[in-house]
Amino acid sequence: MDKKHFQVVVVGSGPGGYAAAFRASDLGKEVLLIDRDANLGGVCLNRGCIPSKSLLHISKTILDAHNLEEAGVSFGKPVVDLKKVRDHKNSIVKKLNLGIEQMAKARGVKTIQGNASFQSNNKIIIKMDKNSILVTFDNCIIAAGSSSAGLSFLKAKHPRILTSKTALDLKEIPESMLIVGGGVIGLELGQVYSSLGTKVDLVEFLPEIASGVDRDLIKPLERDLKKQFRSIMTSTRVLDIDTSLKDKILVILENETTKQKKPYKSVLLAVGRQPNLETIKTQNTDIKINKEGFVKVNEQQRTNIENIFAIGDIVGNPMLAHKATHEGKVAAEVICGLPSAFDKRAIPNVIYTEPEVAWVGITENEAKKNRIEYDKAEFPWAASGRAISTGSVTGKTKLLFNKETKRIIGGGVVGTGAGDLVTEITLGIELGADAEDIGLTIHPHPTTSETISGAAEVLEGTVTDLYFPKK
Ligand code: NAI
Repeated sequence: MDKKHFQVVVVGSGPGGYAAAFRASDLGKEVLLIDRDANLGGVCLNRGCIPSKSLLHISKTILDAHNLEEAGVSFGKPVVDLKKVRDHKNSIVKKLNLGIEQMAKARGVKTIQGNASFQSNNKIIIKMDKNSILVTFDNCIIAAGSSSAGLSFLKAKHPRILTSKTALDLKEIPESMLIVGGGVIGLELGQVYSSLGTKVDLVEFLPEIASGVDRDLIKPLERDLKKQFRSIMTSTRVLDIDTSLKDKILVILENETTKQKKPYKSVLLAVGRQPNLETIKTQNTDIKINKEGFVKVNEQQRTNIENIFAIGDIVGNPMLAHKATHEGKVAAEVICGLPSAFDKRAIPNVIYTEPEVAWVGITENEAKKNRIEYDKAEFPWAASGRAISTGSVTGKTKLLFNKETKRIIGGGVVGTGAGDLVTEITLGIELGADAEDIGLTIHPHPTTSETISGAAEVLEGTVTDLYFPKK
């Protein structure tokens, strides 16, 4: 077996892994980046964020076109050429794959396609098609990500029981689909399939979809989804799935009052993701796993083994690409002797539906739960000229300020482009801004970004786009 030694070995080439590899290389290290996939970029680029955004863009355009009827413009029913849609989506992914590949080459980062697993604390075996390599390292960064979780009673794979990965392959537009799980993936892909013509039912065993997110931010999306989906069944569980019939999948659903059997052409499982510990065989090492089942790391992304770091989904929630990227850079910098650490105070979250829902920092739910005293400032999009002109009046912007320090500690937006707008709130938290800073910042008119300064002005008492009777 071939043997190789590298200063830094990164396992996994997702947004965390390649950022870590590139940063370490830029800081002068000799780096090996390993991925089992032929294409660099991980789940996010190949089977997640990017392909889903390409489909969500189509979905939003279809919804926007439909909504234009109100403004006097009709397009008729969309004609979907599924092969073209797939090719278009795949070409976007390919372009970005190539970009990462070229950047790796330009930096001199060595890449290997193969299955990497630990043999011990200081040895990794990479199994490739025909041979294996034994790799040793000065430092290793585990960035092996996560995979879709399944349902315990479903043992075998079925071509029409989809995961986010196979749903994004878009093999067909099924006549009907049950989405199991009302989290981010369920909501985003539910909207994609429903806008392409599938009758979508969604089942969520908790009382609310997108549980954990402040209800006032979810409500406008939920109202729209209730019109787009055939049904949203909360507080309902999937008891069993019968795949014995040829042309339909029978799902047994149960809530407090009823038990029913429903037929579907297709089922999408979106019930969370689990860390890829087994594939990298952490059991062959002394790496500690925390009680939630993720690799345990400190704020420098270091595991309990001095020269092994871990980043991204494998170290826990939130499972977000941008969190992984930042953690990856921290790990690389620490390895290179820089005093970096990961601060999770301001990690933005976005549900890329239409309307988008985005939030960052402390949510109102968390503030209440942890008895953090806060002031709330809200600006309804019904008072935004831009939102009215673009038909996004159900939107809302909300900012939370620490009552004592007056600094912004969190915020959320629901409405078109919320994912882009939340960045200003994120920056506000990073810079320790208060309501006056945000209110006095000149925002371009007419944009929905004005709802952020507007919200701050509500708190300051200086707002002129809303009227509050004098107390
Ligand atoms: P999730 O954890 O967000 O949601 C899963 C939902 O399924 C939960 O609401 C849960 O209560 C429900 N559930 C679980 N078992 C169920 C059952 N048997 N019957 C009915 N409901 C059930 O997980 P999801 O949506 O699969 O996403 C996985 C991860 O990927 C998340 O951590 C998410 O943050 C990340 N992600 C982020 C995206 C974004 O930032 N836009 C996009 C896609 C994924």
